[in-house]
Order: sequence, then structure tokens, then C-alpha cells
Amino acid sequence: MAASDQAADIQAMTERGFGSLDGASYLLLSIDDAARARTWLRTLAVTSLADARSSKLDRVCQIAFTASGLAALGIAADAAHGFAPEFAEGMAGNERRSHRLGDEGENAPDKWYWGVADTEPHVLVVLLAPVAAIAAVEAEHVAALTGAGCALIRANRSNGPLGREPFGFADGLSQPEVDWDGQLVPGGAKDRLYRNTLAAGEVLLGHTNEYGFVPAWPSEREIGRNGTYLVYRQLEQDVHGFWRWLREQAGKAGAVGLGETMIGRGIDGAPQPGLGGAAGPGANDFGFGQDPDGLACPIGAHIRRANPRSGDDPQGRRGFLRDVISSLGLKGSAMQDAVASARFHRILRRGRPYGPIGLPAGAGDDPPTPVEPSGLHFICLNASIARQFEFVQGAWVASAYFAGLSGEQDPILGNRLPASGGGATDAFHYADAEGCPRLATGLPQFVTVRGGAYFFLPGLAGLAQILAG
Ligand code: HEM
Repeated sequence: MAASDQAADIQAMTERGFGSLDGASYLLLSIDDAARARTWLRTLAVTSLADARSSKLDRVCQIAFTASGLAALGIAADAAHGFAPEFAEGMAGNERRSHRLGDEGENAPDKWYWGVADTEPHVLVVLLAPVAAIAAVEAEHVAALTGAGCALIRANRSNGPLGREPFGFADGLSQPEVDWDGQLVPGGAKDRLYRNTLAAGEVLLGHTNEYGFVPAWPSEREIGRNGTYLVYRQLEQDVHGFWRWLREQAGKAGAVGLGETMIGRGIDGAPQPGLGGAAGPGANDFGFGQDPDGLACPIGAHIRRANPRSGDDPQGRRGFLRDVISSLGLKGSAMQDAVASARFHRILRRGRPYGPIGLPAGAGDDPPTPVEPSGLHFICLNASIARQFEFVQGAWVASAYFAGLSGEQDPILGNRLPASGGGATDAFHYADAEGCPRLATGLPQFVTVRGGAYFFLPGLAGLAQILAG
């Protein structure tokens, strides 16, 4: 059955971003009495996709659990029961994972505000409402926790406005279009060309994925059907330091341009000129096949690392024989290897900003002294944390070796710690307006991880099973 036909069983945020509900509260809870917690969680009006499709909602509630949260409720959330091993281990579950994700140095889990030891959440309750109402909605839920078997670890808030992240860049533009109606047949020759549509099984458990089959999922009592994994990272942004560094590098007049080069889009979201496809803020119909050397959009720019687009082969189809030669790896380059198969590594972003937002005083001027921290409650949904979020974060964003580049990480997100071999990671290669190669060095760390966890966002029938005890 197509995912669309099961909308009543799917939590709404799997399809919707709810941009009109510009306030969000993320309640991170620990369970101290399973029976009471089940009873209270059953009283929450969880919004289904069918609800969201049938009427305009003024509030939304979604529930997700960590593996230890499921265990606290008596559900074995391990690989033997079909749950992903990385979910069972957790985001901060072992040092090798932390290394791969770049969670070292200032990003190390032992420095997080939440996510480890006694701040490891069991339950995430996502509340969305208009910004004028979100404080009251949050207070109502926090008050209800008394005697509910759950303790509040932290209430993380986003007070909008949406559409820009704290550095000031337009955000929330590029998303994969999920094939809700089951029209897509993955695996054909046309998959060599970049496409933005994604098989439902890349986001929903129990559905066919981009490989053309339904992978293992927590199928016992159908607990996992129509569920997904939710990755939550609290990423604090040094807005002041970002704009100060840009001004030092490029002067007052060039600061915004250099920032745009690092993100890979204009400040208002327009794709960089020269990539083909539609232009203008928010346009998303472009690839990097026409820009193999990164003259229009640097190969290491944030959006190009996070989604190298251009499908299995950046040059598209080249005829049967040359396709075979390329598929066998007999002809190609390091760059082509690294950008292969972007469609297996897409994520659905659902994050929201916190703290002051916006371009500080024209960006070229002295940035205002920060009064309160800013950042992203980065949230993404995916059916395989390892193949999707962790691959994007570990192999593309945090890696010092990407698509033939070395000595640099994502210019926005890198932790700038030395690579495994000891080499520097704080550079950024780009081309100036005349197409001349340029190298910026000594990039500071602009984004610091302050918390995180992997959650399971069940379908509604699965949720009922979990809460039935
Ligand atoms: C504070 C941290 C971050 C900032 C400021 C940031 C900023 C941005 C901006 C401005 C865009 C372009 C607008 C858009 O397409 O929505 C973007 C796109 C994107 N970002 Fe981030 N981002 C952050 C963290 C992350 C992380 C942690 C990941 C994943 C590991 C990620 C993955 C993506 C993806 C997949 C895209 C879309 C790329 C495309 O399809 O063109 N971002 N980000």
C-alpha cells in the first residue's frame, strides 16, 4: 500500500514542516515510572498526517523515543528486534561514532548540555504552535508532567521566525520530495541523472527504499511500521565570530559574498549563477554537473557537501558502453566516486532556529555583541541513520577528505581538529568572481554541538503498541 493511503498512521512531521506554526517547543523527558508515563503519553493528541491533510491545525504534537526510552517502557529496541544498531547505541554511544561525526574537542558529548548520562532523554515531545501561543502550550504540557511518571530534562524552544538560520541565510529550501503515492521505480538507467524525488522507504520504515526493497525494520507486532528515525542535534552558532572572520578575510564589501560561497547559495537562497536550472531565491532545480571544478559553487561548500546532487554520475548518461565502463570504475575521478549515489544519502530536514536571527548590521559592519546564544535545533528524519544522516555528517560534512579535496571540512560546520593523519582541516578552496582559485586558511569553528540524540518516531499504531505496555 502506498504511504499516502496510510496517512492516518503516520506522524505528520514526516510530510509537513508546518511553517505557519512558527513556535516550537522540544520537551526532552526522562521516564521514572513506566506505568504512569504510558498513561500520560496516551493522553497526548498526537497529530497524524491525515489530520494535517484534512484541516489547518493551530497546534501539533509529535512523540519520539530514544532506545533507552523504549527500554524504560519495556520494549527491546535492539538489532535483534529490527531496530537499527546505531539507534540502539545512541548518538554518543561510542567513541568511534563520535569521531566520525566530528563530536570531539568542543563538540565532545561530555560537554553537551543534554544527551548523555543523566541528561540522556527517553522521550521527545515536539510541540508546534504560533509563536504567540507556544509558551502557553509548553507550560500546559510541563504542568501536566506532575505525577505523570516523566521528568523534564530540558525544554528547548524555537520562537521563529522561520526561513532563515541565525547566520542570516535563507534556510529550509532544498528538501527531497517523498514519493507518497508509490509512483517511483528506483534502479533504472535514468537514476544516473539527479532527481529530487525519493522513495518513501528512505523516510518511512516498512516501505520500499531507493534500492528497490523493504529493508529490515522492527516488524514484531508491527511496532516499526510507518515509523522513522529522528536525529536531533543542538548546534550553537557563533554569529558574531562568523561575520567578524568574514570581514577580516574579505573586507566590508566582500563579507557577504564569501559567506555565500561557503554556504553555496546566495544570502536570500538563490543558487549560485552558472549551475544551470532555474534562478532566484529558493530555486532548487540545479545540479553540479555543469560545474565540475567548483567555479560556480565550490566543491566543499556546505550545500554541495551535504547533497552533492548529480546522481550516480555527475556527467549523466553517456551511452551504454561508456556507462558500463564508468560503472565498473574503469574510468572516473576521485570527485566522481565521492559524489556517486547522492539519492541514497538524502535526509528530510525539520530543524528550527533559536536565539537572535538575521544578518547583523549589513554583515560588513561590526557585528553586534551577542546577548543570548543562537543556533539550530537541527532535526532530520531518515529510515537509516547510518546510511543517511551519519553518512552525510561523517563522510561528507565532517570529513577532511571529500570529493578530491583535503585539508578542509565543511566551511560552516567543521570542528577544525587535525585529521586522523595529523593534517590541517581549517582551509577552504573556492574561486573568485574571475574564476581564479583562492584558498582561505585558519577557519575558526563557527558551530558547536551542544546536545543530541537519536529518536524513533513511531507510526500511530506502533505508538499505541509501545504505550500499551
Ligand atoms: C548550524 C548549522 C547549520 C547551518 C547554519 C546550515 C545552513 C544551511 C543553509 C543556509 C542551507 C541552504 C538552504 C537550504 O537548502 O535549505 C543548508 C542546506 C542544507 N543543509 Fe545545512 N546547515 C547546518 C547544519 C546542517 C547539518 C548538521 C546537516 C546534515 C548533517 C545539514 C544538511 C543540509 C542539507 C542536506 C542541505 C540541503 C542541500 C541541498 O540539497 O542543496 N546542515 N544548510
